[in-house]
Parts: sequence; C-alpha cells; structure tokens
Amino acid sequence: MDFKNLISHCKEYGFIFPSSEIYDGLSATYDYGPLGVELKNNIKQYWWKSMVQMHANIVGLDAAIFMHPKTWKASGHVDAFNDPMIDNKDSKKRYRADQLIEGYAEKIEAKIMKDVTKAAKKFGDDFDEKQFRDTNGRIIERQKKIDYAINTMNQHLKDENMEALGALINELEIACPESGSREWTEVRQFNLMFSTQLGAIAGEEGKIYLRPETAQGIFVNFLNVQKSTRQKLPFGIAQIGKAFRNEIVARQFIFRMREFEQMEMQFFVKPGEEMKWYDYWKQTRLDWHKALGTPAENLRYHDHDNLAHYANAAVDIEFKFPFGFRELEGIHSRTDFDLKAHQDLSGKKLQYFDPAINENFVPYVVETSIGCDRMFLSQVGQTLQEETVPDADGKESTRTVMKLHPAIAPVKAAVLPLLKNKEELVKASKDVFKKLSAHVLCQYDEKDAIGRRYRRQDAIGTPYSITIDFDTLEDNTVTIRDRDTLEQKRIKIDDVAKVVSDKCNVNNIL
Ligand code: GAP
Repeated sequence: MDFKNLISHCKEYGFIFPSSEIYDGLSATYDYGPLGVELKNNIKQYWWKSMVQMHANIVGLDAAIFMHPKTWKASGHVDAFNDPMIDNKDSKKRYRADQLIEGYAEKIEAKIMKDVTKAAKKFGDDFDEKQFRDTNGRIIERQKKIDYAINTMNQHLKDENMEALGALINELEIACPESGSREWTEVRQFNLMFSTQLGAIAGEEGKIYLRPETAQGIFVNFLNVQKSTRQKLPFGIAQIGKAFRNEIVARQFIFRMREFEQMEMQFFVKPGEEMKWYDYWKQTRLDWHKALGTPAENLRYHDHDNLAHYANAAVDIEFKFPFGFRELEGIHSRTDFDLKAHQDLSGKKLQYFDPAINENFVPYVVETSIGCDRMFLSQVGQTLQEETVPDADGKESTRTVMKLHPAIAPVKAAVLPLLKNKEELVKASKDVFKKLSAHVLCQYDEKDAIGRRYRRQDAIGTPYSITIDFDTLEDNTVTIRDRDTLEQKRIKIDDVAKVVSDKCNVNNIL
C-alpha cells in the first residue's frame, strides 16, 4: 500500500492521529489511538520480554525524563548534539545540509537502479548485477559522483567544517526541493535538545533539558543498579521511554518525530571484550526482527561512516520502509566514554569492582537502541496490503488486510454472532466474549453482514474471528476463521480461550 494510504488507514481505524488536530495539528507530533496504543504496547512487551525477562543478566529501569543539566554537559550533548542546518533564501525552507547531499546521491542511485532493472529484464536469469554495475560506463560515472558526494560530506562532517559543507552543496548544484532555487545561506550547527525552566529559577541557572536519549538515565544509575541487584559483568540495563529532539526537518509520518519513544539497553562489559559483545548484539537484534516475521530482504546492516562522539564502532539495522532503506535500530560500542565523563564531572566513582582481579575499573558499554515508533511503522508498513480473495459465494473480491504477527496484533479475536436479531445467538456470543476477554483483547461485533465484519477485522489485523451460529446452540462449537489462510474450523466453545491465547502468545517467538 502506498505511504499516503497507509497514513489515512492509520487515522481511519484509530491507530494514529495527528496531535491536537482540532488546532490543525503540531508538526511531527502524533497521538496513538485505541488500536495504536495496543500495537505499541505489544511491541514493547515483545522487546521487554526478550531483553529483560529472557536474560538473567539484564534488568530494567524507568528513569525520569528530566535530569540534572550537568548530565548533558558530560554526555557531550550540549556541545556536540548538533545537526548542520541550511536555509534556502528564496523558499525560506530549512533543511539538514547532510540530508540534502544524501538526497542528491539517492537521486543518482535511483537512475542507476532504473538501468539495472532494465538490464535485468533484458538478460533474464543470466543477469549478474554486480558485473553490470562494475562494467557499464554510465553507471561507473554515476557511482563516482555518489562516492565523491558522500565521502566529501563525511570528511567535512568529521572535521565539523560547516563552510566546506556549504561549498559542497553549491559545487554539486543542489537545488531547493520546494522552489528549485540554489540561493543558500551558510551552514550552521543546530543543537537538537529542547530546553525548559526548572521551577521558578530564571535564566541559565534553571535551564534543564528534555532528554534526547534514554541512555543517560541508565549511565548515571549504573552503580545504583549494579549494587542493588549484585549483577556481575557482563550485565545490562534496559529501559523504554520518551525522548525528545528538535529535529530540523521532521517528516515521513512517525519515522522522524520531535517526541518519540526509545527502547534502549546498555550492556556493561570488561574493557577489551566490547567487540565480542558488539557482534553478539548485532546478530541477536537482527534475529529478534526476523522472529517477528520480517523477511530477511527487508533488513540490512549499515556500518556508520561518521561515528558519534562516544562510539568506537556502530551499525544500523536498516529496514525497507515505504520510502527506502532507513535506520530502524542502532547498535553502538560506546567504550567507557559516558561513565568516565559522568565520573569526571560529578566527582563520584562509577566503577566496577572485579573480585577476581581485586581491581576497580570503568566498564565498556555496548548499547542497542531502537525507536518504538519506527518499529511500529515498519510493522504496519510491511503487513498492510490489498489482496484479492475468494468471496463466500465463490467470486473474487479485494480486501485490505494487515497481516501483523498474532503476538503483536492489537485485537486478538473478534466475536461475531451470525445474526444480531436472534437473541440466543447474541446471548451465546456475549458469553464467549466475556470468557475470552479475560485472556486476550477481543471485540464483539454484530453490525452488518458477516462478510463485512470479517473485512473490518482484516483491516485492523485481527488474526482470528469467532462466529457463533445455529450449530453452536446445538453442539457448543463455534467457527474460528484464520485472517491469513481464510481457513475456517469448528472448535469447542470451551477451547476458544486456550486456542486463541496459545496462538497469540508472544512466547511462541521468544
Ligand atoms: N542512545 C543512542 C541513540 O539515541 P540514535 O541512533 O540517535 O541513538 C536510536 O537513536 C533510535 O531511536 C534510532 O534507531 C531510531 O529508531 C530512533 N529515533 C531517533 N530519532 C528519532 C526521531 N526523531 N523520531 C523517531 N525515532 C527516532
């Protein structure tokens, strides 16, 4: 389904609404509706269970959003959490300089892909894409342009040379996507942290920040957690919570927001062992995505060219969103940067005592960090589709279906009396609903013909529909319909709760 329709579908069925819509919304902020909150909670539950419950050496934390302002000085966010910003003088539109250059490279890559697709069609099974890319003159020239733009940009970002970055935009003759104008301001660094005032303290004294990542709440609590849980290295601390970034350009629906939610885990290890654990978490996190049914071809690793100020290795797990491969999750080897920086600025030791060697040291950290909202978008994006299916009368019809994994589907089952004006059917259905709702979230629906009710449930991803008909009154059985296979089976009323709960249990994929 195209991206525009996906966004309208999310609104129409109560997954996601624009924030404060009656006031025309607030840019890049969204509210999760009744079904959205269920799907989001199920994603969080899958993450929490697999990270915390299934690892004896990972424990949870829920730190405050507000933290002492020195936190952000130590972490480097006050000085270095910047994006390069540029304005177009004619359209007055603001952009991220690096995204303009990446957009330039993506346009050239799209041209390459056009040639590749054409050649693949022409040569059929014999087509070798790598060989074609390596030997086709036009592609080689275009690839050179991409490499030059990206490598030069990375060098300037590394050197924090904003002047050179601006010059590169001019050299590549990049035009404003809105107006086509090439009249640019100089590039400036823009700090992404939101600030506010604490209590009645005015001015710089009372300035505090909304956390731009949940990780720092974990670092400053490292010793509190280690001592209270008596964990030994290696061990991890996991947290789910809101983060805030004043993104220069926030767009693509819930992909890039100014208020979003992160699921982060900091894994503390002995110095020197970080690369072993970095590889472990890289694989483990990829497997987590695949276990939910995400096909391997929709996921890929992307090593960072520009390492953040705290990292000595970093990789993104990218997902094929409707607008191309983009970062879904990051795995970062953060060295001892954060703990050391907090130790230095606070004057409080953040060290681990290793009884085996009778020594104190600052552990190294490998973090896994995934945006809950991006995970949400990835799941809706890859499972929402239109397909042709056989009707009850044997004809074909089109349905909109969200083939979410049953473990994260917001509603697990719909309870449907065949007819709403038959009191016995309605009573039996309400009994089934009452029993089932103690186990899973289900919906009771008696309005419209049964086929239309199935379609409504397909559109919100409900994996099972339970129909109560006249046979039910005779033999205490119901029909259970599978959303994906459309298969219908009769099962005993007494088994409904167990069958649905078992099929939708997140433990099946842990
Ligand atoms: N603690 C490390 C950290 O915050 P990051 O790569 O900046 O690393 C981690 O962010 C994840 O948070 C990203 O992979 C992405 O899924 C999510 N994320 C970051 N910025 C976001 C935004 N503006 N809107 C939605 N999700 C975002």
